[in-house]
Amino acid sequence: MFYEKYPAIVGSDVAGDVEEVGEGVVGFKKGDRIPKQLSYSQAASIPLTLATAAIGLYANQPSGIGLNPLFNHTSANYSGQAALVIGGSTSVAIQLLRYVKFGPIITYASGRHSEYLKSLGATECIDRNQVSLSELPEVVKKLTGGVQVKVVYDAISNNDSQLAGYEILAEDGGMVLVTGENKLQEKIDATGSKKTVVRVFAYPFMPAIQEFGKAMYKNLTKLVEDGDLVPNRVEDLPNGLAGITAGLERMKKNQVSGVKLVAYPQETS
Ligand SMILES: NC(=O)c1ccc[n+]([C@@H]2O[C@H](COP(=O)([O-])OP(=O)(O)OC[C@H]3O[C@@H](n4cnc5c(N)ncnc54)[C@H](OP(=O)(O)O)[C@@H]3O)[C@@H](O)[C@H]2O)c1
Repeated sequence: MFYEKYPAIVGSDVAGDVEEVGEGVVGFKKGDRIPKQLSYSQAASIPLTLATAAIGLYANQPSGIGLNPLFNHTSANYSGQAALVIGGSTSVAIQLLRYVKFGPIITYASGRHSEYLKSLGATECIDRNQVSLSELPEVVKKLTGGVQVKVVYDAISNNDSQLAGYEILAEDGGMVLVTGENKLQEKIDATGSKKTVVRVFAYPFMPAIQEFGKAMYKNLTKLVEDGDLVPNRVEDLPNGLAGITAGLERMKKNQVSGVKLVAYPQETS
């Protein structure tokens, strides 16, 4: 993998102003910054989260399930089709499904985030503290009243969430996994199912996905300015790089929920 030896650059999400433009770079000039309404922390929360959800949902197979490969507003319209986001607090997937007009958009997340997730486009929120993953298929079936779920975005991707999502998915539907092993391909191969399952790799710079990556970044400013993409909620960590250790400890203890932690390296003392 990329980061097995130190020193290594272990992250790529940053925000700032353009200080200098390199030779051959077009579309940028000195002094450019992110859209005015965003703080640097909010902007820094966008690149990886957007790339993960966008490649998984919009890019063509095998990178994604191909819902909007040109990344535009007009060519993709899935109104009347149901989608499910497992682990919806990650937030971007819900908004990208709203952007291509899915409805209903059901999400499975902590109940305390329901109002927030509805403000981003979820139409139904299932509280993961009230309903287990094994119960989820039954609960979703009741909610949709038999309407098939064409898309499942699984932001958890453990064994239980994969099985639940797969059971819920329509026979011609597409499912996105974000981490771990794809436990479902064997099932698909064994049964001859037409379901599609992809495991996303959120790196829009690979040759196979570069054109999609360009379209995504070209659209990003407008998405944010139009309010189609609201950045994640963020919390600034204190003490520059030193603050990251405490942040990681909180993540290990599952004490970070529905928010991205942001560090300011220049504040390191
Ligand atoms: N493939 C790639 O290239 C790629 C790129 C980026 C990220 N990822 C992966 O994508 C996943 C999501 O990333 P993220 O940044 O959105 O993570 P996150 O902010 O840490 O977590 C997202 C949400 O998952 C929910 N959650 C955690 N454990 C759960 C469980 N056992 N059951 C149900 N829900 C659970 C929590 O929801 P509540 O707050 O609602 O409880 C949490 O807010 C991570 O595993 C990350 O490693 C993959």
